[in-house]
Amino acid sequence: MFTQAIVRTPGRSLVSGLTNAGLGPPDYPRALVQHRQYIAALQSCGLEVLILDADEAFPDSTFIEDAALLTPHCAVMTRPAAPSRRGETTGLRPVLERFYQRIEQISAPGTLDGGDVMQVGQHFYIGLSTRTNSDGARQLIKILADCGMSASTVPVTQFLHLKTGVTCLTEQTLLATGEFVSRPEFSTYTILSVAPELAGAANCIAINGRVLMPAGFPKVRRQLSAQGLQILEVNMSEYAKLDGGLTCLSLRF
Ligand code: GLY
Repeated sequence: MFTQAIVRTPGRSLVSGLTNAGLGPPDYPRALVQHRQYIAALQSCGLEVLILDADEAFPDSTFIEDAALLTPHCAVMTRPAAPSRRGETTGLRPVLERFYQRIEQISAPGTLDGGDVMQVGQHFYIGLSTRTNSDGARQLIKILADCGMSASTVPVTQFLHLKTGVTCLTEQTLLATGEFVSRPEFSTYTILSVAPELAGAANCIAINGRVLMPAGFPKVRRQLSAQGLQILEVNMSEYAKLDGGLTCLSLRF
């Protein structure tokens, strides 16, 4: 059960965010509307949402999940690989100090984005991607082990982040697309497979018995509904233009 979430309002500089999507820049007013709808969806799942002010110095800072990992036993400040994102953690740390006594830190030469970390029960999968390197993963595995939690790595070759292509729906079930449908690391789970052309639907948030999913994927919605899951759709069009998904926009704990 999660009870709280932290989000950061997108700034006008959002239009300069990092992207490989090739969909053009986001429409800022529309992004603000979608952000409000996203917050409302989290609230409807029972979460109290702390809304941080926009940080214009960091165009991608609304993707707050990449700057920290929140666990039941500690918070971890990450070390984002993208130079334009490295400073996003500085303003977040004092906020997390309100909630956590134990705050750990990923240090150079390690890099780690929160979008590469997927929790399944008490275990954490860490994607080795263009953003998260093996030293960052090694540091995180040690931090989590010191707090009594386990972690292991998964290669990521087709996606920006691990969670771009795979979502933990339950402790037994993953929603996955592309390389994650058949990865040996996930062979013990039931995999709900998302077709490659619908890959944008693979990043969802399972939260307190509901699933937030991006709007516009009726086939995947039917797949999820068939599992008896209660679905909430959120329009993510402006964030998809920056390779962003639902998980990226919040820290949940
Ligand atoms: N635009 C999100 C990222 O590249 O980190």
